Amino acid sequence: MFHKPALLIKDPELIKQILVKDFNSFVNHVGGSDDHDPIGRDNLFLSKDGLWRNLRKKLTPFFTSGKMKSMFPFLDKIGDNLLDHMEQMSFGENWVEMHVKEKLSLFTTDAIASVAFGVDANCLNNSESEFAYISKKMFDFTFWRGLELTAIFLLPEITKFFNLKMFTKEGTEFMAKTIMHVMNEREKSKVRRNDLIDILIEMKNNDEQPLEIETLISQAAVFFLAGYETSSGAATFALYEIAKCQDIQNRLRVELREALLKNQGELTYDIVMNDTPYLHQVFLEVLRIYPTTPILDRECSNPNGYSLEPYSDFVIPYKMPILIPIYGIQRDEKYFEDPLKFDPERFSPDNIHKISTFTNLPFGTGNRSCIGERFGLMQSKTAIIKILMNYRVEMADGTPQEIRLARNALTVQSEVKIVLRFVKDELVK
Ligand code: HEM
Repeated sequence: MFHKPALLIKDPELIKQILVKDFNSFVNHVGGSDDHDPIGRDNLFLSKDGLWRNLRKKLTPFFTSGKMKSMFPFLDKIGDNLLDHMEQMSFGENWVEMHVKEKLSLFTTDAIASVAFGVDANCLNNSESEFAYISKKMFDFTFWRGLELTAIFLLPEITKFFNLKMFTKEGTEFMAKTIMHVMNEREKSKVRRNDLIDILIEMKNNDEQPLEIETLISQAAVFFLAGYETSSGAATFALYEIAKCQDIQNRLRVELREALLKNQGELTYDIVMNDTPYLHQVFLEVLRIYPTTPILDRECSNPNGYSLEPYSDFVIPYKMPILIPIYGIQRDEKYFEDPLKFDPERFSPDNIHKISTFTNLPFGTGNRSCIGERFGLMQSKTAIIKILMNYRVEMADGTPQEIRLARNALTVQSEVKIVLRFVKDELVK
């Protein structure tokens, strides 16, 4: 990695050793920021050792299935806003075409703002809203932002000297202003909503280990950053694949219709997360082919180094970066027959046992895996379900038959806009 060697690991056994069995020797992600950038340094993704353990323990309760279930009505409402938005777009006879990623990004921005922070970001109704502007800016990959983020992940030691920061100045100020306002209002009103803001207030007021306000804001900022792009990207690829393969879409619609009819046509958390197993298969296959985070990383956190015996006599030195190229592994024919074929049957109850946990890692694994996995699945699946409840998805004129991936992006993204056609076709009348 530029100035220092890194170790690329592809063997499933070694991956297991590093991510799970010997986690204590590989606690941290590579990179980080410094004193000049506490929001970049102290967020859950980049924080190290003791601070990370403390934060992870405190933030985990927000992501339990009970908590997600209690938050589902807020998400359901944002799903309805998405449908209203589609309804208002100019229709052909009974269809609408849209740039899917753009619209789903507005959806996930509204979803995270509402579910995690209790804020009505209103991006779907007003794509010029401050939230929409800031979230887009966070991911705009200009040359300078590219250099800044590359340094934070690969050359953390120079970040202080060049005053490089993980979030843009604009993004940080907006996030700080918004979160502090919501926290103050919440404390004044004494109402509990059981969301992330309540957890941040508890962390602030904890007598034993009170946390700095910057540390609290940095958690909100990283949830936003880690949650909005990944989930909208995954849902976009899912809609693209089912537009391409109408048989898969038909099966999804049948499954969904049955689940809804059993529940008088009402969408519930259980339908989204438990009672649509084929949708789950489709989603896992989407994340196999398009893992939004294409590489997992760790650094050796054992000051004595880590011996690779019996695989090799190499001792991984302290702080050496470890890279696990999940995009390549998940598309490797050694592990997946005909790897570029979109085939949700790979994840059927009869076949799933053939897939090793360590060759399919879209959310990572072990103690440092994605904390927002359940939230991510819930919001992406809700968007897909809401759409399928009302529309059939088709390729539009000019939708590419093969996806070429963007080179200048941090996440797995299509090089060109994915525009799809949505034809009115209500599932339950
Ligand atoms: C489809 C959606 C998502 C995908 C594919 C995804 C993927 C990932 C991956 C691969 C990692 C690194 C795991 C590792 O190193 O083992 C990660 C970490 C993380 N994700 Fe997600 N993610 C998604 C959604 C979300 C959401 C919705 C949130 C928050 C609301 C979130 C918050 C985080 C955070 C904070 C971390 C760092 C955890 C830590 O270091 O303790 N993610 N995610």
